[in-house]
Amino acid sequence: MTNNTILVTGGAGFIGSHTVVALAEAGFRPVIIDDFSNSQQSVLEGLKQILGYEVPCVAHDCNDRQTLLDLFQQENVRGVIHFAAFKAVGESMEEPLRYYRNNLGSLLTLMDVMLETGVSNLIFSSSCTVYGEPEVLPVTELTPIQPAASVYGNTKQIGEEILRDVDAANKALKMIALRYFNPIGAHPSAQIGELPLGIPSNLVPYLLQTASGLRQQLTVFGDDYPTPDGTCIRDYIHVMDLAEAHVSALQALGQMTGAGSHYDVFNIGAGQGNSVLELIRTFESVSGQALNYRIGPRRAGDVTAVYADATKAREQLGWTAKRSLREALEDSWRWEQMLRAKV
Ligand code: UD1
Repeated sequence: MTNNTILVTGGAGFIGSHTVVALAEAGFRPVIIDDFSNSQQSVLEGLKQILGYEVPCVAHDCNDRQTLLDLFQQENVRGVIHFAAFKAVGESMEEPLRYYRNNLGSLLTLMDVMLETGVSNLIFSSSCTVYGEPEVLPVTELTPIQPAASVYGNTKQIGEEILRDVDAANKALKMIALRYFNPIGAHPSAQIGELPLGIPSNLVPYLLQTASGLRQQLTVFGDDYPTPDGTCIRDYIHVMDLAEAHVSALQALGQMTGAGSHYDVFNIGAGQGNSVLELIRTFESVSGQALNYRIGPRRAGDVTAVYADATKAREQLGWTAKRSLREALEDSWRWEQMLRAKV
């Protein structure tokens, strides 16, 4: 059997942990490095319940060069999926240096170690935030990038630029950046899911905590946008669909040969836009209960609408989102209820 070990940085996080499951199910051997600064050890137990064995995990900051070097050698790493990053938009505006240092420093260190050890396959977590407020919808990978509206968004844009520049200089690495749209949902077993620390700022975690009684009321941020019902439109994608896109991307890296570029970028979205109110209605139907929400003012920095044209991923990665918004909210709700039952 050829070496199939994939290092998953941030593998205890929301998208990372679901990708670990998808990798294992596809026959890869995931190894996690995570400093647990925004994730919990209990995720490892959830992974064990799903997979039936303990996924190797190094509890360390992946900015640490020596730790990475040791890990690459000890585990015989063949490829890397780099999730580890800070992701809170508001916080990134208050602590820009911490965000740049962590999000870009870890990428640079990782790429150095990959070049040094001859590991060539890299998948980088990017975001639809790079499109800002697009003029034409849905967005394709050729839609112009807008100046980043947040430090967090800028770390994703600069991350993509770093990959592109390294590719131009040196064909030793094969790289794919995946631009995620809005991940929601959980593993259907309810053994892993999203674990927001503190008060959630994203829609679905806040909605779930409202429905389960932990928060009093969800505020819909604005209903005066130029959309059919006045609320913002996003592309909500089931986290397992997103996870599976990483497996497809890893397989595609294997096909990247020849003298041309060894870097590419893909939208990973469901390809469908839903408004905040549509999401709330779907959730109410799934849970069989009315949600306590009110319409509030707009949130600074929100764009009116963004959703993906994921044709390129379908044609070139053979990947497409399979799960519906309803299914994603069913899985989210099952996970939330399981969490609340534990406390
Ligand atoms: C946010 C980030 C984005 C990041 C993504 C990760 C911002 C501006 N963008 O995207 O960079 O990649 O999370 O998942 O923070 N909403 C409410 N009430 C709430 C929370 C949200 O109405 O309590 C609305 C928002 O106005 C938005 C939609 O729900 O229209 C989705 O919001 P959210 O889940 O925070 O994601 P994004 O802002 O799209």
